[in-house]
Amino acid sequence: MIREADIQTVHIDGDRYHDRSIMQLETDHIWRKTWLLAALESDLHAPKSHVVFDIGNDSIILARTADGALSAYHNACTHRGTRLLAEGVGTAPLITCPYHAWCFNLDGSLRAAPDAKSFPGGLPTDRLRLKPVKLESWKGFVFINMDIDAAPLSEFLGILMARISPYNIADMVLLEDQTVSVDCNWKAMIDNFSELYHVDHIHPQHKRFVDCPNATDELFEHGHTGLYVPGFMTDSRYPVPDKPTDYQEMQLNALGIDPSEFVGRVEEIPAAISKAKRQQSGKNGYDYSALSDEQLTTVFQFNLFPNIILSGSPEGLWMMRSRPHPDDPSKSLLDKWTLQLNPDPLLGGQGEHKQTLHAVSGNAAQENGRVLRDCFGYEAVLSGDKSMTETIDQDISLLARVQAGARSSGFASAWLSNQEIRVAHFHDTLNMSYDAAHRSAAE
Ligand code: FES
Ligand SMILES: [Fe+2]
Repeated sequence: MIREADIQTVHIDGDRYHDRSIMQLETDHIWRKTWLLAALESDLHAPKSHVVFDIGNDSIILARTADGALSAYHNACTHRGTRLLAEGVGTAPLITCPYHAWCFNLDGSLRAAPDAKSFPGGLPTDRLRLKPVKLESWKGFVFINMDIDAAPLSEFLGILMARISPYNIADMVLLEDQTVSVDCNWKAMIDNFSELYHVDHIHPQHKRFVDCPNATDELFEHGHTGLYVPGFMTDSRYPVPDKPTDYQEMQLNALGIDPSEFVGRVEEIPAAISKAKRQQSGKNGYDYSALSDEQLTTVFQFNLFPNIILSGSPEGLWMMRSRPHPDDPSKSLLDKWTLQLNPDPLLGGQGEHKQTLHAVSGNAAQENGRVLRDCFGYEAVLSGDKSMTETIDQDISLLARVQAGARSSGFASAWLSNQEIRVAHFHDTLNMSYDAAHRSAAE
């Protein structure tokens, strides 16, 4: 585990953001060997439902089989390799290849092939089953691992599971599903979400509702990290305002507290918020009994190596996922799911949660009760046609420039502050993967 004193020893060169040999190494030794968050379990509840998850050059089908089990396998026909299904969510009783109409059951086994007698070797079922991948569910998310010999997900996530377990993520509902293509390597996106050093400069609005200078970082085995930011308060770099900021007013109003009570007492807002949540727990639709007072007002972020960011509060979450482009290391995709915990009617709750920190951008068109996925390029964000919320838009507006600079012969390697220890830990883990890959290539 990287220590603060060793941050500068972690080598982060520019090559890893654009070199094709590193991209291939990551395909072979990271994407094809690591547990990856592939789907929302709610998209796989219905019988015969499926999700297609594309990652680099691989595509995986996750399906609810006729007997109710979940199954996952490669999305490549065992006849001549054709990609069977397009990316996204769907429902179908069988999977039929669009080329010669081989037909597969939802567990990946071959059901039938036209002119079966014309195959001199027959149609051996073991050989022709869609290549299986490992699958595990946790907290409403479904993970896959292409390495069939991989250790269990719990071993990979380790202590991170205990950190996340008090939050009721599994019952959150999907409000928005967006994918933006960005002109940067997938790691530049993860770097961006691994430090708060840029926040004061790029996200000036944050000073009105979070205290980034008093955030704490946590590093975990296998490259995962945690971040805990005091919320419902203003940035301690700046003088405390006389009256609640507009964000604080919104947050207080959402809990039925009159913001005018806090004129001249703005520092008391977080304690008042956790007291109000605690008093209403079990009565207003939420059960906060698993969470500490501090957790009730903390914005958490957990980065799951290699490419997942879970950022949220007890009532809402952004799942952000950085995916490599199949061919170009200078491009990537950022998926963002906005999830919200609505008040539970069994606990006296009604209606929808009043948005506080996890506001959506307003693109919430639905089909069959599920929000539609919205895919666009980062130019649409720059022009203002699309938004992933103000904060993410601000990040996206910079990342093509980060990528361009990393490619320059004028950039040798990064020089990090202790505010970027999670960047160091991410790259330290990557460096171990790169070293292991080089060693195995040399053997
Ligand atoms: S490639 Fe799928 S049936 Fe021929
Ligand atoms: Fe940012």
